Amino acid sequence: MQACPFGTVPSATCSAILKEPMPDKKSVVIRPAKGFTGSMSLPGDKSISHRYAMLGAIAEGLTKLENFSTGADCASTLECLKTLGVKWERIGDAVAIYGHGPKLKAPDAPLDCGNSGSTIRMLSGILAGQKFTSELTGDDSLRRRPMARIIEPLEMMGAKTTAADGGRAPLSISGGRLKAIDYKLSVASAQVKTSLLFAGLYADGTTRVAEPIQTRDHGEHALEAFGAQLERRMKDVSVAGGQKLHAIEATIPGDFSSAAFFLCAAGLFPESQLTISGLLLNPTRTRLLDFLIGLGLRITPTDLREQHGELVGMVQVQGGVLKGARVVGEDTAALIDEIPVLAAIAPYTSEGIEIRDARELRVKESDRIASVATNLRAMGAKVEEFEDGLRIPGGQKLHGAKLDSFGDHRIAMAFAVAALRAEGNTEITGADAAVISYPEFFNALEGLVQR
Ligand code: S3P
Repeated sequence: MQACPFGTVPSATCSAILKEPMPDKKSVVIRPAKGFTGSMSLPGDKSISHRYAMLGAIAEGLTKLENFSTGADCASTLECLKTLGVKWERIGDAVAIYGHGPKLKAPDAPLDCGNSGSTIRMLSGILAGQKFTSELTGDDSLRRRPMARIIEPLEMMGAKTTAADGGRAPLSISGGRLKAIDYKLSVASAQVKTSLLFAGLYADGTTRVAEPIQTRDHGEHALEAFGAQLERRMKDVSVAGGQKLHAIEATIPGDFSSAAFFLCAAGLFPESQLTISGLLLNPTRTRLLDFLIGLGLRITPTDLREQHGELVGMVQVQGGVLKGARVVGEDTAALIDEIPVLAAIAPYTSEGIEIRDARELRVKESDRIASVATNLRAMGAKVEEFEDGLRIPGGQKLHGAKLDSFGDHRIAMAFAVAALRAEGNTEITGADAAVISYPEFFNALEGLVQR
């Protein structure tokens, strides 16, 4: 037995678990199901896990996080923090982070952010405030994604950066003392908002970030939980520089974006009964519940409580007959991570689903508009593709097919759900991409389907 930050545990489990290498492209075969029923809880929310890990690293004291995300993206954040001199331990689903305080150690190697846009963009805010140069890079997908959205404001605050062509990773950031800015985001992005608020902690004066559309506010809740004071209005948040953060102990609520796959799977079968407990229900994340209710599901939230500013509870879902929906404007922004799975179940609705104003989907882990359209067509569906979205008629019958995840975790999981109502088996190549946010996904899905 060995003493650990979480008490005394068998020594075999009390060691830092290193990021697992991504397995080779693996396929899964999904067989059609007759129903979908059961109870579950989910590993900790990815957005919150990243933020708590980063703030725990620059806080004073020992932060203990139960139900930390099991995904490879959050492991990338932890590995980058280690390269920056932060000590942490992973014990089962918990992580203990020994706060290093605001000044991190100069890294002796490039920071590998893997597939994680959240890691590279949010960590950049903290690195902009460090008196050293860091290099950040990632996998092929991450190196294709736009970084100008953080480079521009961080440079305005005084950081010096270099980037590959088109403002892409690898990035280098030479930081130091920053000056506060008053910045209006041109893209609605919670990653950028959070990055600038983190940088604001290192700035002289008060940094203000205004967003065109309200995005998820986990950065704001996390900063407040770690002891920072913010001034918040709906689409406008300010943070004064020089504030000290203290450690926290928290249980991270279940990931709502992972729950989305199960909520939509329940929607495919009129007799479904699904209960998800300990789920994140922050209203900036749960627009999918409104849509699914509008489509015809009965969803009851109960056992509501607040944990470090985040709303958490249980949802009970009863299947129904899915009608149709149009997703535009602020709804598209609020549903951005859930659109692949919503689109994947669209052919099974009676009236179809149209999604517009979703250009951002083209610069996610894959071009999600193209990935969804390609896979739906492979399953025999009619789909209209637009530069900013998709129109998918309802009342369609899909057949099993050989699909590709396009290396994108949410595409792999979305089409595992679509496959449950198809005729015949569906093979998804590169299904191991699910490890990015939810390594246990296929087992959890299999545990709830009825055949
Ligand atoms: C996230 C914000 C969103 C989302 C991503 C996680 C976050 O990205 O798509 O999965 O944790 O802040 P953008 O900020 O690029 O919109």
